[in-house]
Amino acid sequence: MADDKRDEPRPDDAAEPPGERLSIVSEPRDRADDDEFKWHTGVQRPTGVQDAIEFVDVHKAFGRNKILRGLNMGIPEDKISMILGPSGTGKSVCIKHMVGLLYPDQGDVIVHGESVPNMHDDELFDMRKKFGVLFQDGALFGSMNLLDNVAFPLRQHTDKGEDEVMEIVQRRLREVGLADAGDKMPNELSGGMRKRAGFARALVLDPDIVLFDEPDSGLDPVRTALLCELIKEIHDENGGAYVVITHDIMSARRVAEHISVLWKGRIVESGPAEQLFDSDNAFVRQFLSGDSQGPLGME
Ligand SMILES: Nc1ncnc2c1ncn2[C@@H]1O[C@H](COP(=O)(O)OP(=O)(O)OP(=O)(O)O)[C@@H](O)[C@H]1O
Ligand SMILES: [Mg+2]
Repeated sequence: MADDKRDEPRPDDAAEPPGERLSIVSEPRDRADDDEFKWHTGVQRPTGVQDAIEFVDVHKAFGRNKILRGLNMGIPEDKISMILGPSGTGKSVCIKHMVGLLYPDQGDVIVHGESVPNMHDDELFDMRKKFGVLFQDGALFGSMNLLDNVAFPLRQHTDKGEDEVMEIVQRRLREVGLADAGDKMPNELSGGMRKRAGFARALVLDPDIVLFDEPDSGLDPVRTALLCELIKEIHDENGGAYVVITHDIMSARRVAEHISVLWKGRIVESGPAEQLFDSDNAFVRQFLSGDSQGPLGME
């Protein structure tokens, strides 16, 4: 029996690596002076707040590259939440788990009380209609003008008549300040306009949850500020759980009501924005002030 187990990785037993699998290293644990998770405060769940989305002990690796390592995170209902964290920590990977584009290796992702990894295809299809997603570059269809781009989800997912579709599209374009640009093609627009158009398209199905992956990347500071205002205004009007991923601390200060700081696949700290901006945690303080001095170095 013992022989059968010889080739299995034994991550906890670094003293006697099995065969040639030396590269499987154990995570340092219980070593207070050198614990890479020592800044992680952990999240007590349940938090008492109603969550639209919950990550419960989620692990996700690509090959040997462990990205999420026991992630516990709640995205509260009806608030603008931000997920902040250094590049490559898995923020986009989180978003993909929310809409069932990636599945956890272990743990669960729960949207409105239902487990996403356990959904059948038809349930997943219905669940995705709850979401509006604004991808990094707006992800507009290059061959369609703005009207058709924004109308696309309505034509695809509803049986509304063309008059009603156009009425909704015009209203959404007006809201994002693109009332007169409906007949423009995406390549005729600036980056900021494309993002606003992507935002309009993300909203046409009146989603309960809107995900923004770096809505501010590539925008100048003024346009970033305007986009933040727009996100707040539209959230005030429509409600819902908004999840914004950003690197921009100014954007976080402007719009975030709830912040989760992600690092090395877990939450360092998570809570109301004002609490995070007043955090005692050295990592959070360094990250939210953009300071080069502190526990977060180049890796
Ligand atoms: N489909 C995939 N296959 C293999 N590796 C992947 C895949 N998706 C993401 N990764 C890896 O997971 C890690 C986290 O990626 P992710 O895109 O989530 O980072 P991020 O936090 O969004 O970073 P950034 O702030 O730069 O956008 C990266 O190392 C990336 O290479
Ligand atoms: Mg990303």
